[in-house]
Formats: sequence, C-alpha cells, structure tokens
Amino acid sequence: MNRRRFLSASGLLASLPFWGKAFADNPRVLKLRPTSQHLVGAQNPKTDVWAYDGTVPGPVLRYRQGDVLRIEVENALPVATTVHWHGIRLPNAMDGVPEVTQKPIAANGGRFTYEFALPDAGTFWYHPHLGSAEQVGRGLAGALIVEERDPPKVDRELVWVLSDWRLDRQARITPDFLSPMDSSHNGRVGNTVTVNGSIQEVFSLRSGERIRLRLINASNARIYGLHFEGHAPWLIAFDGHPVEPRRLEEERVVLGPAQRADLILECNGAPGSRHRVIDDFYQRRAYRLLDLAYTNDEPLMRTMEIPARLPVNPFKRPDLNGAERHRIVFGGGMMGAMPSQREHRGMFWTINGRPIDEHAAHASPILQLKKDASYVLELVNDTSWHHPIHLHGHVFEVISGNRKGVAGDTVLIDPDSRAEIAFVADNPGDWMLHCHVLEHQATGMMALVRVG
Ligand code: C2O
Ligand code: CU
Repeated sequence: MNRRRFLSASGLLASLPFWGKAFADNPRVLKLRPTSQHLVGAQNPKTDVWAYDGTVPGPVLRYRQGDVLRIEVENALPVATTVHWHGIRLPNAMDGVPEVTQKPIAANGGRFTYEFALPDAGTFWYHPHLGSAEQVGRGLAGALIVEERDPPKVDRELVWVLSDWRLDRQARITPDFLSPMDSSHNGRVGNTVTVNGSIQEVFSLRSGERIRLRLINASNARIYGLHFEGHAPWLIAFDGHPVEPRRLEEERVVLGPAQRADLILECNGAPGSRHRVIDDFYQRRAYRLLDLAYTNDEPLMRTMEIPARLPVNPFKRPDLNGAERHRIVFGGGMMGAMPSQREHRGMFWTINGRPIDEHAAHASPILQLKKDASYVLELVNDTSWHHPIHLHGHVFEVISGNRKGVAGDTVLIDPDSRAEIAFVADNPGDWMLHCHVLEHQATGMMALVRVG
C-alpha cells in the first residue's frame, strides 16, 4: 500500500464511525481448555489443570470503573460450565448461574458472550458456577480488576491469586471432589498453596517502594490468616470496597474463600533482608507462604504517608430504620461420626432447615424482596464450622458481627456466631445466597433470593 492509499484508507475508517465502533467492540475471547502447568516447581512433574486462556490462574482482566466488559467464552473443556463474575453488580442474565440465569455453556465447543458495565471499582474475580467444587479445584479462577478513575500512587501494583490444591506425590490433582468427608466438614482444604499458579519461594522487592497488593482467595475451602513479618501493611479495601485505611500491626489478613483484600505495603526492610509471610489461620498448621526478599539496590526515597481513603462505590445505602428484617439459619455438618451417604443423600447442610442441591435451580426462593426496599438479614451460623456467605448481584454492609462496618459481597461467619448484613434490593432477578466453601454450596448450603 503506498502512502497515498494508506491515507485515504485511514480517512475512510475515520469517516465511518459505525463500522469503526463495531470493530472496536469485538469481544475479548476467553477460552477454557485442559492444559498442564508447573505448580510445584520446574523439577517436579507438571499438573494437569483446567484453565482460562491456557494459564492457571486465568488472565488478569483489567478495566476502568464504568467500562463495559464484553467477553466471549469458548468452552473447550469436556464438561459444561458458566462464568460467574464474583462481586460485580450486573444484570441478572449475566450472572452465570446455570439454569437460573442462563443455559450451561456446552462442553467441547459451547460459547456464550457476557456483556455488562462495571459500576464499582475494586478487586473482583471470575470462576465457574457449575460443578464449581471440581472446576475451581482443577484451576478455573482469575482476577477481575476494576481500576479507580484516580488510583492511589504506588510504585507497583500486584495481584496475588491464592489457590489451594490437593496433590498426590506425582503432583497430580486428587480427583476426590465432593467426598462426603470434605463436604460434611470444612470442605476440600488441600496440601499445596500457590500464588499466581505456582508455589513461590521468594517475592523480591526493593527497599523503599510502595506496593499495592491485591489478594484474592480463589481456593475451594481454605481460609487464610496472613502475617507479613516485619511489616505493617495498610488495609485500604476489602471485598472490592474501600475501608478507612488502617495499619495491620499484629492483626492478620483473614480471607475466607472468595474474599479479597487490597493492601498498601510499605517496603521498609533493609536491602538484602528477608521476611516471612506466614499463614497461620489453622492452629498447629502454620506454614510459610513465601519470603519477602529485598534486593541489594539502594533504597528508594519515598515519604511514607497515610494512604487516602478510596472513593466509595456508587451503590445505594440501606435505610436501617425502615429495613425489613429476616433471619436465615445455616445448619448441618458433622462433628466426628459420619452419617451414611444413603441416609443423607449426599446433602449435609441446610438453610432454614432445608438442603438445596446445586441443580435444584428452580427451587422456590427463600425470600421475596421488594425492589428498592432496604433489608437486614441476620445470618445465623448454627454449626461448628466457618462459612463465608455470599450474596450475588448486590453490595451489602455488615452491620454487626466481627466484620462490622465493612461493605462487600461475602461475609465470613465464625462457628456458632452470627452477622447482620444490610442492603437495598435494587437489582431485579433471582440471586444466589450461598456458602462459598464450594463443598458446602454443593451439599445443601445454597438458596435463591428473588428481587422484584
Ligand atoms: Cu463466587 Cu455464587 O459465587
Ligand atoms: Cu460453608
């Protein structure tokens, strides 16, 4: 093409905005397929996994607040799937819940296009909502980052996707998904934790830098309690929503399945020093996640300052005085003895006394909420286990319990305790309310809430 023709061709493009727009709006393709990856070091065998775009975790999908996400999912797995965009306030038809909001995306070549606007800035993630215990357990999860219009100034921004695997000695995934033992106790807690898809020995940083670290718990069941030894990170957001910035001195970063935390890490260690990041959520099972290893580079000179509070996201605040109240009781689970499978038909958990299996999608909703009304749900954990309870399609405020004051989409409720969440039911449709321990979700701890 000579220069003259090139000019006229580009002139044509500019004069046809309609065509130009259609071209620009081509969806990004996200392809699911089996692959293999070194999870436990190059000297060990690769692990067969299921992946988005060939990597575990999937690609970091990054947008700006207000952007439209448009993604065509192509399913080359041997099983049907869906994609759920965890924590995003989106139209019901885009929520990725099989048989409730869409038909499953068929195995071996099915396609589905997701398209919706991203109203809230924050750290979110995506994962299947069909056979999730197995599909997430085999590697399907990825970060969805929605940037603030005016993000905090840092030297680097990083995402750590925390995944938990149950591997055998050949580094193969143990295929005992939804075993009655896991399902009736604390879920499939594995034996190998990876950060962004491989076990990490060290994470290297430079003295003086400021890092925004987005942590995502993409594990089936493992809860994390992270200490950054020698550091006191600032917590600036939790579950995608800003909190008043606060230094975590002794306090651990506790993340139940599906939860996220945004930290500002002031790297004030000396050049050449090493500091452990320890996870000791489960007593007597503490381990070192990785070492923060300082390079010998000369320290960057940064004035350390209190991070500014991030702007609140534009969700409606509930009216606590006018709110209607409902009590939801989570029950079941085992202490010690196992029930026979037949006796319980594989269902171990209940919501308000009733187990709902993953495919009983048309089961009647446990709640009918009036559109735009405010609600307080008292979530009662009447079991001896932790449950991270997640509501789709809305952002709630936690108004009591040990997470009081936080906004988000998932609340971790300790054994034999309760939390109250408040929200405006402003998003019409049938929405899931479930435990995000995926083995609990699949064996009874899942319900529908209808709005509108
Ligand atoms: Cu992250 Cu209903 O799920
Ligand atoms: Cu649970």
